[in-house]
Amino acid sequence: MTNSILLTVSAGIVLAVVLRKLQVRLQLSAAKHPSLTGHARMARRFAALVPFYEYGEDRFFRADDAPEAVAANRRAGFMRLAGIFEQRYVKSARMTAEVQDGISDLQFTSRYRVPFQFSRFVREHFKPGAFLASSSGVTVTDLDGNRFYDLTGSYGVNVFGYDFYKDCIAAGSERVRELGPVLGAYHPVTVYNVARLKAISGLDEVSFHMSGTEAVMQAVRLARYHTMRRKLVRFCGAYHGWWGDVQPGVGNPQIARDTYTLKEMDPAALRVLRTRRDIACVLINPLQALHPNGSAPGDSTLVGSERRAHFDRAAYSAWLRELRSVCTARGIVLIFDEVFVGFRLARGGAQEYFGVAADLVTYGKTVAGGLPIGVVCGRREIMKRFREDRPADICFARGTFNSHPYVMGAMYEFLQRLERPEISAIYENLDEVWNMRAQRLNERLRAAGLPVSVANLSSIWTITYTQPSRYNWMFQYYLRAAGLALSWVGTGRLIFSLNFTDADFNEVADRVVAAAEAMQRDAWWWSAPQLTNKSIKRRVLKEMIQARCLPSMGSMSSPRSK
Ligand SMILES: Cc1ncc(COP(=O)(O)O)c(C=O)c1O
Repeated sequence: MTNSILLTVSAGIVLAVVLRKLQVRLQLSAAKHPSLTGHARMARRFAALVPFYEYGEDRFFRADDAPEAVAANRRAGFMRLAGIFEQRYVKSARMTAEVQDGISDLQFTSRYRVPFQFSRFVREHFKPGAFLASSSGVTVTDLDGNRFYDLTGSYGVNVFGYDFYKDCIAAGSERVRELGPVLGAYHPVTVYNVARLKAISGLDEVSFHMSGTEAVMQAVRLARYHTMRRKLVRFCGAYHGWWGDVQPGVGNPQIARDTYTLKEMDPAALRVLRTRRDIACVLINPLQALHPNGSAPGDSTLVGSERRAHFDRAAYSAWLRELRSVCTARGIVLIFDEVFVGFRLARGGAQEYFGVAADLVTYGKTVAGGLPIGVVCGRREIMKRFREDRPADICFARGTFNSHPYVMGAMYEFLQRLERPEISAIYENLDEVWNMRAQRLNERLRAAGLPVSVANLSSIWTITYTQPSRYNWMFQYYLRAAGLALSWVGTGRLIFSLNFTDADFNEVADRVVAAAEAMQRDAWWWSAPQLTNKSIKRRVLKEMIQARCLPSMGSMSSPRSK
């Protein structure tokens, strides 16, 4: 009798434990974004299945089955652009060709500027060159003397204009010249840097690293050390550098077993945080507020016109507040990764801008006045790298170039300038300025009947396309021909420095409109009722299946011959 009671009770306990585990597992599944981006392993498996194939010349201009006359129009436009590039970029193109085989990064970025089916033909005909000679104001100049308005923002480093950073680097170098490149000990400017970073972040301690990626690595390591939990939570689509644990999907050959990728701005994610006991930290990249759950929008993945972006400051602030409260309740470390947006949205960064305080904050990019940097600021108890009661249980973090005197010197100049009235004035009505500029440009694009619009998070912009097309990625080349420099991700990310005056911006807007008109004239945005984003995706999927099963079918060229 007693035995059977014992058995029943044990079975009950086991069942309860199993059911609980199942519930927690189901909660985790429900908190994943339904897209491939939300399913890292599936995305990697899918990516491995995508076969190489490319369009021959004929198909290149008719990937959407446009009539022959439209294709002829496009071909003429394409060749005209190729001619312009060939004439304008002689020296830049020659030097790029010279070094192309020797720089792996260059091979990668030039290949992934456009969807792979179009890539070879584009590379053969468009040789815009990868070299620049100088920068000034809001422009950069290439080796042939062509001046471009710079919309690359140097990956986000350039917040205040290149001349500002040249000054920071020159004055900072002068300031630390006596010490030179001595490492290990600190240059005295570091005292000021630490004090300012503490004040700006509202946090107790600071550590210096060499890149944003390293700063994020250290923040996560500290969170794991202090919580004694393994898992990190990141949100679908968010970029936090290229370290394996924060890049669990395509691009990382290894499975990131200790990473949960959850749906951002979704109560299901909060449920996971509320119930699981293995979560050390939550990483936020506030840039995602522009496209929650979407990956960094590059033109190489611009298959149709499905890129979406919309920034809602109030909604994102409310989401961060909810996260803050769950993390506090559950002892989870909340990390704001402000490597991109810090100092760009507000002097106090995303914490100030969204009105939410984090436990750890990472900065990078701009904060060392133009030199390489990563910074972690944090609460004292989380920044500590050793335990008083267990001296051998440490959390190790070093780095040869941490606190390099020249980096500290340029950072000192940057942080000093940040306090000047002219910089305060820039921050004062930042959003108004950039929202108004975006709105005006959108009005012009709409009035001209162009299928292009922009969305922005302050000075970080993305171009979206309002009508289904397979050729939106061509827009980056029309923009370039109009004298606008974009980074290798093309129209997915335009980053303005805050020294763009209204006159500068109006000139950029004129050029964007003119470029879109030229592209429209060349018939790339030809449309037909049967051409929808869905039909485009279906078509591409069919091509992929064909290329896998029957490599020589269709007007695509042989997949493995290149
Ligand atoms: C939010 C965020 N975190 C981390 C990184 C990585 O910084 P770094 O390229 O300096 O390693 C980046 C880079 O773009 C970033 O945007």
